Amino acid sequence: MTIISPSLLAANFACLDRELERITQGGAQWLHLDVMDGIFVPNISFGIPVIQSLRKVSALTFDVHLMIQQPLCYVQAFADAGADILTFHLESSSDPSVTIEEIHRCGMKAGISIKPGTPVEAVYPYLDRIELLLVMSVEPGFGGQKFMPECLDRIRALRGKAPALDISVDGGINAQTGAACREAGANILVAGSYVFGAQDAAAAIASLQ
Ligand code: DX5
Ligand code: ZN
Repeated sequence: MTIISPSLLAANFACLDRELERITQGGAQWLHLDVMDGIFVPNISFGIPVIQSLRKVSALTFDVHLMIQQPLCYVQAFADAGADILTFHLESSSDPSVTIEEIHRCGMKAGISIKPGTPVEAVYPYLDRIELLLVMSVEPGFGGQKFMPECLDRIRALRGKAPALDISVDGGINAQTGAACREAGANILVAGSYVFGAQDAAAAIASLQ
């Protein structure tokens, strides 16, 4: 079964509670929360207080994607805010092993994300210690970008290495690119503009599944 994780970045920020209602009714099980610091990526999104507020009104699994330079410094704060899964970038400056341990110590599932230009082999040493691998299919930093088909071979290679791991793909996902990612071995699809931009979020989510 494919899990759909709509990315809040594409929601209407003036009415987040209603936006969450819309995707929850539409069948989403997870919520993807993109945190950007303006340093690791050239953009700033939202942070801990927003997640804390949403936690009070939502039972979705909070799938937090940190695009920040020093993830290790904020692990406890994201746990306190209500994150269920905390994903950091392998290219950030925190030590991956220490960061994974800290995420587990704080009671969350640990994820690692890799940018399109990072060799997949770089993540191999960590595959047996994480619960989620997030493969970027665009350069991180902005929603609404075009899907990079090169990620499909990367997903295939990673699925071969980690048959039972949750593998998620993020960036430019719609019904067509999502189907290609599922075929390549991804079992979680992150979709921002395709889901939140749709009139009928339920139909968009169903088309991804
Ligand atoms: C990009 C973010 C994505 C983004 C996806 O840096 O990590 O999660 O919101 O947006 P779409 O689905 O519109 O490409
Ligand atoms: Zn993301």
